[in-house]
Amino acid sequence: MAREFSTVGVVGLGTMGAGIVEVFARNGIDVLAVEISEPALERGRATLKGSTDRAVAKGKLAEADRDALHERVHFAVGLDALHSVDLVIEAVPEHLDLKQRIFAELDRVCRPETILATNTSSLSVTEISVATSRPNQVIGIHFFNPAPVMKLVEVVRTVVTAPEVVADVEALCARLGKVDVTINDRAGFIANALLFGYLNHAVGMFEAHYATREDIDAAMKLGCGLPMGPLALMDLIGLDTAYEILDTMYRRGGRDRRHAPVPLLKQMVTAGLLGRKSGRGFYTYERPGSPVVVPDEATPPATEAALADGARAITKVGVVGSGTMATGIIEVFAKAGYEVVSVTRGMEKSATVCEALKTSLNKGVVRGKLTEADRDAALGRISWSATLDHLADVDLVVEAVVEELSVKKALFASLDEICKPGVVLATTTSSLPVIDVAMATHRPADVVGLHFFNPAPVMPLVEVVRTIRTSPEATATARAVCAALGKTGVVCGDRSGFIVNALLFPYLNDAVKMLEASYSTADDIDHAMKLGCGYPMGPFELLDVVGLDVSLAIQRELYLELREPGFAPAPLLEHLVTAGYLGRKTRRGFRDHSHR
Ligand SMILES: NC(=O)c1ccc[n+]([C@@H]2O[C@H](COP(=O)([O-])OP(=O)(O)OC[C@H]3O[C@@H](n4cnc5c(N)ncnc54)[C@H](O)[C@@H]3O)[C@@H](O)[C@H]2O)c1
Repeated sequence: MAREFSTVGVVGLGTMGAGIVEVFARNGIDVLAVEISEPALERGRATLKGSTDRAVAKGKLAEADRDALHERVHFAVGLDALHSVDLVIEAVPEHLDLKQRIFAELDRVCRPETILATNTSSLSVTEISVATSRPNQVIGIHFFNPAPVMKLVEVVRTVVTAPEVVADVEALCARLGKVDVTINDRAGFIANALLFGYLNHAVGMFEAHYATREDIDAAMKLGCGLPMGPLALMDLIGLDTAYEILDTMYRRGGRDRRHAPVPLLKQMVTAGLLGRKSGRGFYTYERPGSPVVVPDEATPPATEAALADGARAITKVGVVGSGTMATGIIEVFAKAGYEVVSVTRGMEKSATVCEALKTSLNKGVVRGKLTEADRDAALGRISWSATLDHLADVDLVVEAVVEELSVKKALFASLDEICKPGVVLATTTSSLPVIDVAMATHRPADVVGLHFFNPAPVMPLVEVVRTIRTSPEATATARAVCAALGKTGVVCGDRSGFIVNALLFPYLNDAVKMLEASYSTADDIDHAMKLGCGYPMGPFELLDVVGLDVSLAIQRELYLELREPGFAPAPLLEHLVTAGYLGRKTRRGFRDHSHR
């Protein structure tokens, strides 16, 4: 028989604590919510009220249920009120000494059989537990932010946690409608160990002016389907909390430089810019605690006119190449009303591209996304050629030929001879330095990267890569073109992986290392990222879709360019590629796909 939890204590009603109170009260459990002072208690009460009112407004909670929920919650200042609860969850700031003091006090106040749990994200549950006389009844219950929404709970057992305590807490998680993964006590557990290196890297990009906050966030939302970008997520987590988590992970997790908090974070915390909770972090919010972003001095002008500022007029576009990307890019431009000249290496290839394009457009017609007239008009805008000479009068060239530097450089040298002055020359390379192709021309100021994602007609993101020689007009033109295509163009520097791949692949590689270390299973790691962080796919699902060989090649490039020891490809990834397990395309990668 699992233990009955009828009253639960929650200590600390900040970002997490207030949400945890709501989770318990929503599921019919009485809660004693404790804070350090009256004003802090009031803040916690207001957070709970704000959250439940929003749930009512969104139709997710009936008014009567909200009122019943509030009746189940009692508030108190000081830990003494917790003498007769069945379980306590601590959610105070991420400092070991503070948590140890609180656990020693809880040990004194609470009944001997009470389970004491910490919501720590990165500290050692074991070290917290030894501050009590009952380390066997101490456990980690790690909720995700926002606690009422995110389905995952990481249950952290130490070497001394009693098995029945683990079982009771697992049963409780099920009663709360949560999915738990039970793991050992390691810095960052599953999700944060995979998340925080990525978040810190994104802050580093922002600090280095590699891209704007809006562009970094848009890149990860639109390029990877994440529910929010990394900087918005930092604001939600709280920059002080994020700083402490990174700092602890750096010290506990093998001094991986990627966890050393980026200096800007410390400055922001010192300046009181803590994120949503203080009303200002990377973004500015309507008021402290509000999720509503308001414009500030760093907000870019949003109007079409501002976007087109300095941009050159583009009506005719050349697309060079005959592969998947070139075909998709031709479709995107033709559908958006541009006149397109497609150049391939021969009319046979042009015929193949034309067929693929017709098939894709016809699919659009069948799905009701395109009328037959629109399809015919799009096809009518395309002319097919096997010679670059036909690009003499285009306004923009997008190159999507094979990913080999020598081939691209030769092509750009030819374009330089053929194209009229003022043309923007774009490469859609995903891994080569754009400056290398730019320097193959006499007009590097007009060369940009336009990194489309596959499939180009579907994916809403384009990375606009400016080199150190690209002119502001060429960048503005590229961005305006993206907008005219109905895509979001994010501008970034000319570094390996641009924004998306540089932030995505090290995280995937870290997941492989975690699996290799036998810390958890592929299923639990996938679960943790989907249910704890709202990712559309877990890392192993995604690796199998992308292809392990492709992932390894990108990771190698990142490692070679940035020389970051933490970016070294996971040996397991290399072994799987050597063994020919490349993912779905070979029916076997991290998982066996032969039966699907
Ligand atoms: N923020 C997140 O996204 C997130 C997610 C999961 C877990 N966590 C973990 O949850 C814990 C709390 O983080 P947070 O972001 O909610 O912090 P927070 O700063 O938002 O809230 C902490 C609260 O604890 C209160 N407090 C401080 N000392 C206290 C004491 N002695 N007694 C009672 N209350 C006290 C503070 O008044 C404050 O309201 C940390 O261990 C953190 O690592 C945070």
